[in-house]
Amino acid sequence: MTLSGKRILLIISGGIAAYKALDLIRRLRERGASVRPVMTAGAQEFVTPLAVGALAADHVYTDLFSREDEQDVGHIRLARDCDMICVAPATADLMARMAHGLAGDLASTVLLATNRPVLLAPAMNPAMWAHPATRRNVETLRKDGIRFIGPMAGEMAESNEAGEGRMAEPLQIVASIEALMDDAPKPLAGRTAIVTSGPTHEPIDPVRYIANRSSGKQGHAIAANLARLGADVTLVSGPVTIPDPAGANTIHVESAREMLEAVTDALPADIAVFVAAVADWRVATSADNKIKKKEGEGPAPLVLTENPDILKTIGHHADRPKLVVGFAAETADVIANARAKLARKGADFIVANDVSPQTGIMGGDRNRVRIVSNDGVEDWPDLSKDEVAARLAARIAESLNRKPL
Ligand SMILES: Cc1cc2nc3c(=O)[nH]c(=O)nc-3n(C[C@H](O)[C@H](O)[C@H](O)COP(=O)(O)O)c2cc1C
Repeated sequence: MTLSGKRILLIISGGIAAYKALDLIRRLRERGASVRPVMTAGAQEFVTPLAVGALAADHVYTDLFSREDEQDVGHIRLARDCDMICVAPATADLMARMAHGLAGDLASTVLLATNRPVLLAPAMNPAMWAHPATRRNVETLRKDGIRFIGPMAGEMAESNEAGEGRMAEPLQIVASIEALMDDAPKPLAGRTAIVTSGPTHEPIDPVRYIANRSSGKQGHAIAANLARLGADVTLVSGPVTIPDPAGANTIHVESAREMLEAVTDALPADIAVFVAAVADWRVATSADNKIKKKEGEGPAPLVLTENPDILKTIGHHADRPKLVVGFAAETADVIANARAKLARKGADFIVANDVSPQTGIMGGDRNRVRIVSNDGVEDWPDLSKDEVAARLAARIAESLNRKPL
């Protein structure tokens, strides 16, 4: 029972995804947590307080000016008598209220009055999520220390709508809550980290792209493990099929140039770990329309141009993080290449691995790495990618806490 004895205040606001909050309540209680629900007026249009209260086995709080609940200033009690607050779904409107410090209803008043960790699971139409006003509000809330899980990309409840805006699935939210409630030591508390993960896709035309076999498993595991040690992690992920890791704020990108932009936007940071298999080259001019096969003309030539080198750019950046870690995926001369990379790219250490097909590392669940730094080469045994990530996160915490600030 990973959440045994934990008291979770669950705020449900008014989006279609409110139905998933019912399942979330069950999953949290299954893990030993108690769930105290607060519902906005909007939420009650989507699911009933009766269903929420029955699943939570608790009173459902809905009204700021309730004569019964407010006899002893109940909203302040609600805000404090819990170990954390989860808002699922979090509407665009509620996030806007939070970002502006509004307190016109019970949910926003509790969120303004609390001194507990707050996790938001946003859910909205992709256009609402992408709107500059929502982007500003999310940025403000992040700076205020609010944590986020999702939203995810995918199909919307509205027909013919897809994109980023789906609420994270209940089990993903549970994993984030578990990460937030983990009582283990947090040697990276107060530190910020940027991690890149996955491949990049470099467009040839609107339907074709150049890619590589990176699955994102190693980078995502590193992001999750840095978060587990208390770091505030921004994960910049290329296109992958695995879920966003618990506890990290994930930004989805496609190309190397988008990845560099997202990484630069996330600066300043204390730690940067560049795990993504970034394409070295892209097509110089990608076509606006699908390139057609023309009878007798042979294949269309692909003229390549160099992509930005993200590790090198950040390794020599004016805002260089205190600790910069690069990955070197090689198929030959692994150590020599890693050593050369260390100096050239301005990294503190390089995690080198042999990704020749016979190793099964690219896309697989295990990894065998060597840590190359100015102090020498450390040979790690064959480990699961999660074990490599846990060791690396511990190693990063140790190096950073040793380094003068
Ligand atoms: C059918 C329907 C679905 C909606 N879905 C969402 C949604 O998924 N996300 C969102 O931010 N707002 C959604 N809204 C708009 C919110 O309900 C509206 O902004 C409301 O004021 C939110 O109030 P609350 O944040 O207090 O719950 C939806 C509205 C309707 C009528």
